[in-house]
Formats: sequence, C-alpha cells, structure tokens
Amino acid sequence: MSDILQFLQQRNSSPKLTAPGPCAAELEHIFRAALRAPDHGWLRPSRFVTIGQERRVAFGELLERCLLLRNPDADEAALAKARNAPLRAPLLVVAVVKVALHPKVPPIEQRFSGACAAQALLLAAEASGFAGIWRTGAAAYDRAVMSGLGLAEDEEIIAFLYIGSRNGSAKMIPPLDMTHFVSTW
Ligand SMILES: Cc1cc2nc3c(=O)[nH]c(=O)nc-3n(C[C@H](O)[C@H](O)[C@H](O)COP(=O)(O)O)c2cc1C
Repeated sequence: MSDILQFLQQRNSSPKLTAPGPCAAELEHIFRAALRAPDHGWLRPSRFVTIGQERRVAFGELLERCLLLRNPDADEAALAKARNAPLRAPLLVVAVVKVALHPKVPPIEQRFSGACAAQALLLAAEASGFAGIWRTGAAAYDRAVMSGLGLAEDEEIIAFLYIGSRNGSAKMIPPLDMTHFVSTW
C-alpha cells in the first residue's frame, strides 16, 4: 500500500490538542489543499476564518454571550464551557460556506463542497504534522455567532476546526468490516 493510502486510512481526529499550531507558511499550504475540494460550477463557496491564540478569549466571550441569547437560563457550568471551548486548541479555523442561488447547483451541493473542504483541511493539517477535530454544536448554527465572526447573511458555518499538535497518543481506530459498507449492485 502507498504511504498516501496508508495515511488516508489512518486519519484520526484528536480532541486533545496543544501548541504549537501551524505557522503562517504551513497554514497557507493547508488552505491551498482545502481549496481543492470538488466544487460544482466552480462557485468557490468556501472560505475560512482563523482564530489564533490571541483571539481565543474574545471568541470564547462571543460564544458565551450568544449562548445567553439562545438560553437566558444557561447555568454557570454551561457558560464556562462555552467560554472555554476555544481554549482547547491553539488555532481554530471556522469553515464558512457562501450559499448562492444557482440554477444548476442547489444549496446542498455548495454545503457538500464546504464539507469536502473542511475534510481536506483536516487531512492537510495532519499531513503537515498537526492534528485536528471537526466540531459544531448549537453555536455553529447560531446567526449571532455568525455575525460576531463577520459572516454575511448568505454565509453559514460548516465547521469549527480545532487545529494543533496531538496531545497524547492517537486513539484506536476500530477495524471495520468492509462488507457492512460496500456492496456490488
Ligand atoms: C459535521 C460534523 C460535526 C461534528 N461535531 C462534533 C462536535 O460538535 N463535537 C465532537 O466531539 N465531535 C464532533 N464531530 C465528530 C468528530 O469530528 C470526529 O469525527 C469524531 O470524534 C470521531 O473521530 P474520528 O474522526 O477520528 O473517527 C463532528 C463531525 C462532523 C462530520
């Protein structure tokens, strides 16, 4: 098996991330890989917003404020969880999709393209010696979070990609029986 195939088969999310994250030059390569996602109609629906170490606290405050707007009864534990969420990695990349009205490319295909870009970004980060995890949750679908991040009305969050260095060993990848997933028609 080729090294690339082996790498693809072993991609592994990492919930525990620590510094360092990728530097600017490494990030540029990662974004270039992400932007090779399939894209029906070449609409270029994906873009990325980075939140580095120095902006994580401000983003946590935004998440906390938005949680309170969604749920004024949120308790201190929930507020602290929201506030501290961005501190789980040295870099957050918010994967954003611009959903356009198009006669041949329905919105779902534009979101699929964004999801492919998010996965490509995770793969590229891992190929660059880093690790990551795709997270969403209610905040990802909250218009107040989106506008706090500067998104336009026709833009949506696809993923919060937490990126950094793997903290601890990689988790086990359970073996899969291909016959459960693949059939011949
Ligand atoms: C659209 C999407 C949203 C996700 N949201 C979360 C999330 O909010 N929190 C979380 O712990 N995992 C989330 N996951 C799952 C993780 O990214 C990851 O896939 C999971 O922990 C399994 O690890 P693995 O990718 O190494 O198999 C999400 C995955 C996808 C595709």
